[in-house]
Order: sequence, then structure tokens, then C-alpha cells
Amino acid sequence: MAIPIKNKEAIARMRESCAIAAGVLHQLKQLVQPGMSTQDLEEAGRDLIASHGARSACYGYTIGSRRYPAYTCISVNEEVVHGIPSIRRILRDGDIVSLDIVIERSGYIGDNAFTVPVGQVAPEVEKLLRVTREALDLGIAQAVTGHRIGDISHAIQAHVESNGFSVVRDMVGHGVGRSMHEEPQIPNFGKPGKGDLIKPGMTLAIEPMVNLGGYKTKTLADGWTVVTTDGSPSAHFEHTVLTTERGPEILTVPASVQITNFKSQISDPTLKS
Ligand code: MF3
Ligand code: CO
Repeated sequence: MAIPIKNKEAIARMRESCAIAAGVLHQLKQLVQPGMSTQDLEEAGRDLIASHGARSACYGYTIGSRRYPAYTCISVNEEVVHGIPSIRRILRDGDIVSLDIVIERSGYIGDNAFTVPVGQVAPEVEKLLRVTREALDLGIAQAVTGHRIGDISHAIQAHVESNGFSVVRDMVGHGVGRSMHEEPQIPNFGKPGKGDLIKPGMTLAIEPMVNLGGYKTKTLADGWTVVTTDGSPSAHFEHTVLTTERGPEILTVPASVQITNFKSQISDPTLKS
């Protein structure tokens, strides 16, 4: 199977879906406070997604015989990804909480994630968040026409490991479009110059998952929640990125700051939401 190349129409739809995913994530981030439950964030996320005329791509997402039961993925501390929101999980000062928002509208999917500190976190945890964010930026900077997927992977791994943290191996970034997971896989570890060639018109979800301790993870008995095996905290930042002849363009930016989208709305009335 080849990596899907999006045409102009598909790119316009991806822009919209990604702007919505980014807007929801941005609003959800502002709500995080000590004392609230992850279910509180779930309900806010569910309502925000609906208010944008979109659908959660997580709700009912099926792997084998398991259906994901929530509208958002909310992962606290040692939870890496796919945390199921719960009224019993209360956020405390010093926690970190990863919010992962995947939405579908008009047949196209936008995927992004961000890890938020709750109140005051330990200096090493603050560093974990900073390094993971920087690793995402460095990975995106490699999403250049003519480079290979391994260049993205390597940039992320090198930055993370040189800062004394580890990258998760059991889960990877991915192409995204009509489906949440398309080709190619984008590991957060690898060798430069290896893997598929990057061409214009690819939409890639780049998503470093970084552990303060070892790289190993396991899945809890709920069938979804991935945690670090050593219980160390884990951070997760993700953007959906469009590759172009002029370099990478981050699509998961809220509409109010998406300059290209703003311009195209003036010239192309079909892009109006
Ligand atoms: N961003 C996650 C991913 O790419 C979202 C998973 S949604 C779930 O895998 F439905 F699997 F929970
Ligand atoms: Co993803």
C-alpha cells in the first residue's frame, strides 16, 4: 500500500478538520485545573467537538474486538496514551495530563495532542514537557520533500535521548486522512535516510511519546490505557502536518491563527464552515 497523496480538495478538508481538532484541544487545555476529574474534561471535549459540527474519531474506534468508549483520550502521569476518562481520576497539583483529540468532519480526520502541567510540577517533569515539545518541532522540521520518514524519527530520538529521556517504541506516529491511521508509520526512533520518501501532499501525524524513565510500556486490563512499565511520567505532543514543496505546514492550528486558511476563505467560499 502506498502513502496517500492528498489533492487540493482533500487538503482543504484536512485544513478544516485539523483546525477544529486544534481549536477543541486549545479550549480544553485552558480548562485544566487541580480538583477536576478527567471525566469533566471528557464532557467538555465531547461538547466542544459537537459545537464544531464534528464527530469524535475516538468514540467507537475499534481495535480487534475492543471499541474505545470515550470521545477523548486523557492520560495522566505514567499513562502514556489512550487513557479512558473517569470520574474517579482527579487531577492534583503536580500532575501532568495528556489530552489527545481526534475529530472527523466531511470525511477527513484531524489528530493532535498536548500535555498540560497541573499547577506546579517538578523541575524534571517540566523539562520532560519541554524536551518532548522540542522533539516534535525538530521532527516536523524534517518533514521536507526529498527527506525520508527516518529523518523525522531520528531527529526526535536524538533530541530525547541526548536529554536523558526515552522514546516509546510500542506506538508510532502515522499518516492521517480519510482514516485515523494511514501509511506511513512514523516511529519516534530510527535512522536518517531510511524509510519512505517524503513527497508533497502527505498529511502526517507526528507524535513523540516520551518517558522520564525507561521506554517500556504495557496496556492495562481495560484494554486501552497504555502506561510506562516503570511508572515514570510520560509526555505526548502531536500535530498533523502537511508536506509541501516549500516545507512542512502544521495543520492543527486553531482557525483564528491559521493564516493560509484565512486567505483561502476569502478567495474560496466553499471553504467557509
Ligand atoms: N492519537 C491517537 C492515535 O493516533 C488517538 C487514538 S484514539 C483511540 O492512535 F480511539 F484509539 F483511542
Ligand atoms: Co495520532
